[in-house]
Amino acid sequence: MNTELYMMTGDALADHAALVRAAEYLRAGELVAFPTETVYGLGASAYSEDAAQKVYAAKGRPSDNPLIVHISDAAEAESLAYTTPTYYQLAKHFMPGPLTIILPKKKIIPDSVTGGLDSVAIRCPVHPVANALIRICGIPIAAPSANRSGRPSPTTAQHVWKDMNGRIPMIVDGGSCSIGVESTVIRLTDAGCEILRPGAVTEQMLAAVVGTASVSPAVIHPSLAGDKPLSPGMKYKHYAPAAEVVLVDGEADAFVRYVREHILPTEAVAAADTEQALFDGCHVLSLGKNDSAEEEAKYLFALLRQVDDLGYTRVYLRLPPTEGEYLAVYNRLIRAAGGKIVHAD
Ligand code: TXA
Ligand code: MG
Repeated sequence: MNTELYMMTGDALADHAALVRAAEYLRAGELVAFPTETVYGLGASAYSEDAAQKVYAAKGRPSDNPLIVHISDAAEAESLAYTTPTYYQLAKHFMPGPLTIILPKKKIIPDSVTGGLDSVAIRCPVHPVANALIRICGIPIAAPSANRSGRPSPTTAQHVWKDMNGRIPMIVDGGSCSIGVESTVIRLTDAGCEILRPGAVTEQMLAAVVGTASVSPAVIHPSLAGDKPLSPGMKYKHYAPAAEVVLVDGEADAFVRYVREHILPTEAVAAADTEQALFDGCHVLSLGKNDSAEEEAKYLFALLRQVDDLGYTRVYLRLPPTEGEYLAVYNRLIRAAGGKIVHAD
């Protein structure tokens, strides 16, 4: 299959024509990759059993791992799922935005979209291209991240191209994703909500709206997910480059000492640009401009891909804290490292 790559130009007419074309593919049951504020999505009609099967095939994804259904306005969930007052309370604050809410599904969503579950994950992206595409399409779009299964999620159209060229008819290039890690996935509980996958909408932000927000223990300890986790994605090894990811727990200076003692010429260390001088003589890969959760989240997946593209056998990263948006980075890293942490002192 020939894959068309369309770059958004800012020319309203040309961009609109491209999205109309993308929407035609989607309505015909074909797949289109598109940008969102979190990561690129691999879109398919959320009403089509066949299109969902194509998603699993293109990604090489196990078909029991359900897809998120994307809408352009929170109220569109009404025809897809059984909503609650808490859903609308959260939607008022975080939709559109990087939050995915799991609700009991209605029959219109085929079982293949939800991996056989009786619930459906609903998300309303704030990215203007994603939002316009869903509106033009006129139907909800089921979309997992647009990577081959097990690879880091794509945060640029080039990442998507690398994984999906020849497998899908069209990729819409809207530049780099501003957040860089996937949306926060929550389920609603009697007390409020529970985070199944951490993202840019944090526990504190959710608690401020619904009173009680908890974090599923498997977010911090992936081995606790077991065989039948609340969110099937929890049980799959994810985000892993071919190189070994070495997560080092320790103070900043202990991390620097540990890396300088252990690093080999075929290996690299990840650091913010402001910290690079501490590792002179080492191969340093950029984890953003400065040492912050937002920058780490934004550049983490690109960095994991870079490690393999440049042929390093191992990459050293400092274990982030579990507070705020750092929790999302912590969760992706600990899974990329297969749960292993080394200690530096
Ligand atoms: O930011 C995002 O959420 C991106 C962009 C494209 O929107 N999408 C994304 O989709 O990350 P995906 O398929 O890579 O991850 C979806 C996660 C998986 O961990 C899956 O198990 C979980 O959401 N999930 C989906 N539907 C679910 C359901 N009904 N119950 C529990 N977990 C669900
Ligand atoms: Mg994914």
